[in-house]
Amino acid sequence: MKTVTLQNKKINSGSLILVNKSYPFVGEEENLSPACGQAPSVLIQYRAGIFLSNLMNRIDGWRQIVPVSGWRSKQEQEEIWNDSLLKNGQEFTEKYVAVPGCSEHQTGLAIDLGLKQEVIDFICPDFPYSGICQIFREMAAGYGFVQRYPKGKESVTGIGHEPWHFRYVGVPHAMIMKQENLVLEEYIAFIRQYLYGKKSYDFYRGGHKFSVAYLKADKGEKTEFLMEDAFSCSVSGNNVDGFVITKRCKCGRRRERYAG
Ligand code: DAL
Ligand code: ZN
Repeated sequence: MKTVTLQNKKINSGSLILVNKSYPFVGEEENLSPACGQAPSVLIQYRAGIFLSNLMNRIDGWRQIVPVSGWRSKQEQEEIWNDSLLKNGQEFTEKYVAVPGCSEHQTGLAIDLGLKQEVIDFICPDFPYSGICQIFREMAAGYGFVQRYPKGKESVTGIGHEPWHFRYVGVPHAMIMKQENLVLEEYIAFIRQYLYGKKSYDFYRGGHKFSVAYLKADKGEKTEFLMEDAFSCSVSGNNVDGFVITKRCKCGRRRERYAG
């Protein structure tokens, strides 16, 4: 066993941070890189970009899909918000543009994708439930991406149905969210019942067992937890009040493919 110390300011960073109207983004964008060669100004966090490239290479996706919008500064989000208010009005803007300060695009973990065509709408690009776009959508979870604002969950996410907006949460979380039909608000709440050291949500894939659990941050500047040496472990803040700890170990159960 070893003791791991987490700085509590890290609650606001990591691939599982929940960013919405209730939980603004207060972290710093880190390690951004172009989502693809054909649109070097569309940026995404480096690790998310690797998984996106792997998926796009697998399906030859960049032939028919374009990255429309990736990382945005708060100022850029403000410009989009104000511009949309003028052009589209308040109802539309609140439905499809996150309040400045509260957009996932500020994290670098979100990307809007559009079907390649002559005219591409910047706020609501066309990303149909057919053809290459649907192939991307169906394979996304295996590469750590979820469609963040699905139909039927508008009252949970506070955002309208957005077929084009994908969010990197990482493997295995995207696969668990897909399997359990949970959006990120629900997933962060769901994981809270698995208190680190007491219970875990176990997920088997690719010859690995993933154990996911929630660790509430201690008061003060840091939080400590005990970890068994044999595990490989990753930690993300939840941007609410603590951390999601994901342990991975090899296991003998049947092999199923996953991308990461
Ligand atoms: N379109 C999403 C909600 C954003 O502006 O972040
Ligand atoms: Zn978006």
